[in-house]
Amino acid sequence: MSPQEERATSLTFDGRRVPFRPGQTIGAALMAHGISSWRTTRRERTERGLFCGIGVCFDCLVTVDGARAERACITPAAGGQVVTSEDPDRPVRRPEARHD
Ligand code: FES
Repeated sequence: MSPQEERATSLTFDGRRVPFRPGQTIGAALMAHGISSWRTTRRERTERGLFCGIGVCFDCLVTVDGARAERACITPAAGGQVVTSEDPDRPVRRPEARHD
């Protein structure tokens, strides 16, 4: 597989290359690659990954190409994506209020 083909069919997760199949979500790609948790809870530091798998529980949050708090279970995997695990102590920036 050429480097271009490899990039088109894989993302990186915390610096590791994770291949995916067309149509898979990020969560599915991570699970298929043996990664079952990618964030911890703020209080107990218990591990979280997929729970509901349908976008309802928000247990599966990751950062995707710099965008925080994306749900891995419903976000399609795309070639070259840079996905990182969530740090619960790093505050999520809220969008600026509009005053128009
Ligand atoms: S696993 Fe529940 S929102 Fe993603």
